[in-house]
Amino acid sequence: MTDRPARPHLLVTGGAGFIGSAFVREILARRDGSRITVLDKLTYAGNEANLAPVRADPEQAARLTFVRGDIADTGTVEPLVAAADAIVNFAAESHVDRSILDPEAFLRTGVVGVHVLLDALRRETDRVAAGDRAAAPRLVQVSTDEVYGSIDEGRAGESDALAPRSPYAAAKAAGDLLARAYHVTYGSDVVITRGSNTYGPYQHPEKLIPLFVTNAIDDLPLPLYGDGLQRREWLAVNDHALAVEHVLWHGAAGEMYNIPGSAELPNREVVRRLLARLGKPWSLVRSVEDRPGHDRRYAMDGAKLAALGWRPRVPFEAGLAATVDWFVANEAWWRAVRTGAWEGYYERMYDTRLAASREA
Ligand code: NAD
Ligand code: TYD
Repeated sequence: MTDRPARPHLLVTGGAGFIGSAFVREILARRDGSRITVLDKLTYAGNEANLAPVRADPEQAARLTFVRGDIADTGTVEPLVAAADAIVNFAAESHVDRSILDPEAFLRTGVVGVHVLLDALRRETDRVAAGDRAAAPRLVQVSTDEVYGSIDEGRAGESDALAPRSPYAAAKAAGDLLARAYHVTYGSDVVITRGSNTYGPYQHPEKLIPLFVTNAIDDLPLPLYGDGLQRREWLAVNDHALAVEHVLWHGAAGEMYNIPGSAELPNREVVRRLLARLGKPWSLVRSVEDRPGHDRRYAMDGAKLAALGWRPRVPFEAGLAATVDWFVANEAWWRAVRTGAWEGYYERMYDTRLAASREA
């Protein structure tokens, strides 16, 4: 990567999703002249309403271009990559439970889609060699702690073996490995981030925290898998977005960087705290049949990213309180998401489980 251009033009794939849209909002709100093109397929998880704060501000809106399309479509991807100073790939099918119900889309986006992006990047590297372009773009492949599998003890380091245990995690691991292989084989400028469980405003209500907050607002049961003692590290979405940006401009080509959260907690404790913030009773929580192959614990060593000069800023207590309050204040956003196809999904995932549920 050459130096950061004064007014970079970024291609942000998956920029209408939860973390991608936080990245877009964060960067455009700085008003430093950066331009962003979002490429997003708008799957059930993509939502243009996540970019509404940008659209509402004419100065920011003028620096955003939105393209609806698939990262697995070469014809769409190649000209966008050719026009970008850097690419940040957030696009993925991102929910473990859906990958258990139906893995195919995970492979199409996570493997073929990443391959198409990498091939477009390779063309740009070739154009630099031919003197047609000054510097090749860098690609940040946004990955996850789930590629390391369940970590019984200690913390996963970047050079540890990958041991994914769900179709989601396996597709993400394949994307990581492809990205790394393109760096080694073709000299492509690729960096990989592995973020931990992320929470915050605009997160799709299929995930633990927004599902439980929105169900609790409506006094619906909260389906806690198994004993609820699975442990996750929780990372605020703005911290995740800023860490990805830090790696984009400061990471070393071909390297992987863990982005750990600011707190490691069992699910029960997360649920206890969000109910306390809402003032809702524990009796809403129901113990339901566990997720197949449920990873017991994720934990990562963050020394490599810390050495690059990045630290998380948001403590979990403050981040969770702000997130709960955001969902309380933004009912229109999540009620619109919890309609249509949501109902079939919810039934398929939870009806049988809740019918056989126990006190938690
Ligand atoms: P999300 O599901 O909210 O958003 C994904 C976005 O990608 C959506 O806007 C969707 O429309 C888009 N998309 C999906 N397939 C596409 C395709 N083929 N072409 C173009 N766009 C496509 O997910 P998220 O939680 O924002 O996660 C973003 C990235 O961060 C993912 O790669 C995920 O693996 C990774 N990650 C997420 C977490 C987390 O806790 N949410 C943690 C670590 C890493
Ligand atoms: P999730 O938000 O799906 O993230 P991940 O699977 O990527 O960690 O789930 C977080 C934790 O919460 C995980 O241990 C599974 C658990 N969980 C439940 O107990 N009930 C639920 O309905 C959901 C969606 C998750």
